[in-house]
Amino acid sequence: MSFSQQQLKEQVAKAAVDYILPLLTPESIVGVGTGSTADLFIDELAKHKDKFKATVASSERSTQRLAQHGISVLNLNDVQSMVVYVDGADEINPLLQMIKGGGGALTREKIVASVAEQFVCIVDESKLVDQLGAFTLPIEVLPMALQSVSRKMVALGGVAKQREGFITDNGNPIIDVGGFSLADARELEGKINDIPGVVCCGFFALSPATVALVSTQEGIKILTK
Ligand code: A5P
Repeated sequence: MSFSQQQLKEQVAKAAVDYILPLLTPESIVGVGTGSTADLFIDELAKHKDKFKATVASSERSTQRLAQHGISVLNLNDVQSMVVYVDGADEINPLLQMIKGGGGALTREKIVASVAEQFVCIVDESKLVDQLGAFTLPIEVLPMALQSVSRKMVALGGVAKQREGFITDNGNPIIDVGGFSLADARELEGKINDIPGVVCCGFFALSPATVALVSTQEGIKILTK
């Protein structure tokens, strides 16, 4: 019998809760990501809502789902520390560097993750790649910089396309960029971060995950650096 992608996501969502439970105290704040895998994690986390104090969410979508479960969601400005951040990814490599932002929540994801002591990435095996770059790189930009950033991305060797009909929770458009040669994602992330008008790019290479839980047909694999 083989598991569907949905079943693999459900299994890794459960594994993530098992992984973080020993880290939690009644005072803990849990950072929560965004996406279909993060949704399943929220549903599992809700079964243990007496084991931590509250969450910080990386999107309006996750905020709503957490609230529906009766889980408290705090503003990041009201939080001093966060024991763990749990989120999916669109791609992750063996260095635990990721491309994120397929769902458009990359900026808040990067901010919330930056506060957490650990980033636990939860993916099914389809997300595991040797080299990042088959998935187009999302870049959130200020509206006035759509064209100027797009031209810079073309100059860096990419193919840039505005995500049609999409505005982030922060009110900005996203450019999806494909076609990069990605030998060094860290270097490219730094270059993109330096472009005026870029709010955030979907590379999580300068700050990769701490651990990845990968759901495979053979069970959950735990990857560390
Ligand atoms: C949201 O902006 C993304 O970063 C998601 O975390 C990522 O796209 C993974 O989503 P899925 O779990 O739905 O594949």
